[in-house]
This record gives sequence, C-alpha cells and structure tokens, in this order.
Amino acid sequence: MPLFDEVSLGRGRSVRLYCEDALPGLGRRLGRARADVVVTSPPYNLGVPYSRYRDDRPREEYLRWTGRVRDSVREVLADRGSFFLNIGGPPSDPWLPWDVAREVAQGFVLQNVLHWVKSIAIDRVSAGRAAGLSSDLALGHYKPVRSARYVHGAQEYVFHFTRRGDVPLDRLAVGVPYGDKSNVTRWRAAGAADRRCRGNTWFLPYPTIRFRARDRPHPATFPPELPEWCVRLHGLERARLVVDPFVGIGASAVAAARLGVSFVGFDIDREYLRVAAQRVRREVTDPRGGRRRTAPKSRARITESVRTAGTPP
Ligand SMILES: C[S@@+](CC[C@H](N)C(=O)[O-])C[C@H]1O[C@@H](n2cnc3c(N)ncnc32)[C@H](O)[C@@H]1O
Repeated sequence: MPLFDEVSLGRGRSVRLYCEDALPGLGRRLGRARADVVVTSPPYNLGVPYSRYRDDRPREEYLRWTGRVRDSVREVLADRGSFFLNIGGPPSDPWLPWDVAREVAQGFVLQNVLHWVKSIAIDRVSAGRAAGLSSDLALGHYKPVRSARYVHGAQEYVFHFTRRGDVPLDRLAVGVPYGDKSNVTRWRAAGAADRRCRGNTWFLPYPTIRFRARDRPHPATFPPELPEWCVRLHGLERARLVVDPFVGIGASAVAAARLGVSFVGFDIDREYLRVAAQRVRREVTDPRGGRRRTAPKSRARITESVRTAGTPP
C-alpha cells in the first residue's frame, strides 16, 4: 500500500506519508485537494548516496526530470499557493541551482530568492558596539572544500515560485526586531510593531549532532525550521495543506506538525519514511523535545557540515 503512515494532529488534521514516486503520486493522492504550500528539496544530482535513487544522471536528463517535477507540482498547487524549492550546488558547479530554477520558471514565476545561510562569521567591529561581542563570532556548519580554488559553500537557495508572482506574504511572521528602535516610533502611525522584514538571508544552522546514524540518518536534509519559516512566510492562516514530494526523513512533516497544518509527503524509501513518521510522532507528543538543540562546545567554532553536498575537485 502506498500510504505508509498517517499521524493525527487533531481537529481533523493529519500528516500522511506515501511510499511512492511523487511524480504520479502528487496528482493521484491529492485528488481534488490543492496544496497551499509545496516546500521541498529534490535530489540535486550530485552523486549523493541515496539508498533508492540514482543521483548522478546526465545533466540534460536531470533537468528534463526537474521539468516533470514542475508540471506535477503545477497540477496540485492552489491558485495563490507558494512553491518553495530548496537547492544548492557545489562551488565547482555554481550554475546547477540556477539551471534548475530556469527549468521550473517555465511553469511558474520566481517571486523571491531566499538564501539559506548555514554558517556565518561576523567580525566584532562590523557587528558594532551594540552587539556586545567580545570577539569575532563564527557560527554554524559547512562542508569544507579541499581545493585552493574555491571558498567553502555556506549557503543554499530557496527559490520561491508562485503562479503569477503576486502572492501576498506574511513577512513579519518571520520578521526580526528593529536594531534602531527609532524606526518603531517612525512607523507607529502605520501600526508598526517592533518588527521588520527579515530579508532574504536566513541563518539556520544545522543542530550539532553526535551520532549521524542515530541523529540524522539521511545524507541530505534541511532543518525543520527552514520549511517552518517558509510556511510562516506564506501565511499560516492561508496554509491549510502543506506538501513535500521529496520528504526524506521528514523535516517538512515535522514543521507542519509543529504548526498544526495538514501535510502530505512522498518518498521512495521506506526506511526514510519510517524515521519521518517517528519524528512527527515525537513532535506531536513532545513538541519541545524536537526543538532542543545540542549546545555547541564553543560559540566561535565552525565545525564540518554533515550535509553531503557535491564534492568539488
Ligand atoms: C534531498 S532529499 C530530501 C530530504 C528532506 N528534505 C529531509 O530533510 O529529510 C531527496 C529525497 O527524495 C527522495 N526521492 C528521489 N526520487 C523520488 C521520487 N521520484 N519520488 C519521491 N521521492 C523521491 C530520495 O529518496 C530522498 O530522500
């Protein structure tokens, strides 16, 4: 049976996980339902060792497949829905994410380009006195590059596609407090709170893990906060159904459970789905547990990324 598992979120909402190819699966399983948000990270074609998917196809073939993914998503996305597509590329192939974006843009409008920053270094002087740093700060994880030609890739894209480029967003739902509080007073007449748009750089480090096989048994994941912020940005009150065609070990399913939004996810690997269902159940029964992050040993330490992205020469 393709329905691998279903977890109730209460009030008629649920997380449903299907073990099947998402391309025919999306239309087949959603029926007449429409996805308000599709948030996903497809295979990047970088030779990642997935257990049931070959991630090293000729570029043309991969892009043709990406076009089929686009068409399947178009079939199920609501008229005013958002399609958030996460993809990165190795430093030696910087066009890969943009080649994919161009392919998807043949059926959608690219409304926003977000940068998922996994690691960042902030100089004490640039941060300014108000930041209170006593030394330079380096945070997060990246995949080190073994080459004198390239710098480490510490960022991936999240392309935000919509049908016509006109979907209003809830920018303050992922907003940040003003640094200069005089802005709050200045915009008070417009009903401003102490919150401004975060902009298109989202710093979301991977939590530090100790045992990969136990803590993150999948070679290419994103943290649940990434899809969570995407759904919040789209507008939580307008998100009744979230869909991820390539759900892996379920970061987007965990995000949907956290937000109390119905979710449908697909993967071709039963073992990944087993872990995804387990994580969703844990989120439902112990919501705070899922958010607990292991504190890094030193704030100023940059450790090696565990995400398997492409290895540049
Ligand atoms: C980049 S990973 C997604 C990881 C996920 N975002 C997470 O955080 O766990 C891509 C996933 O797509 C799955 N996959 C590949 N081809 C598929 C297909 N045709 N239909 C459904 N899933 C597929 C792979 O098994 C892999 O788990």
